[in-house]
Amino acid sequence: MAQNYHTIKFGTIEFPAKKDELLLFSLMKNDIYAQGKAHGRSRGGFCGMGVCQECLIELENGETALACQTLVDKDMEIRDDE
Ligand code: FES
Repeated sequence: MAQNYHTIKFGTIEFPAKKDELLLFSLMKNDIYAQGKAHGRSRGGFCGMGVCQECLIELENGETALACQTLVDKDMEIRDDE
């Protein structure tokens, strides 16, 4: 199992995520819906195809990405502005 999974860090939470799975699905499977903040509210995926921008996340390196368009990769760290 471990070979097919990476450990993802979301703020202080760590969870296993299947290698090459869409990051949005990994977050949702772990009940994480607050990928980012905009206008003071939590955001989560809506369209699942890169249009709505509701799944925008910020990585620890400062880059932003759409979770529904990003594959799980090793050493991913996502900022949680909570
Ligand atoms: S869920 Fe709409 S852009 Fe990602």
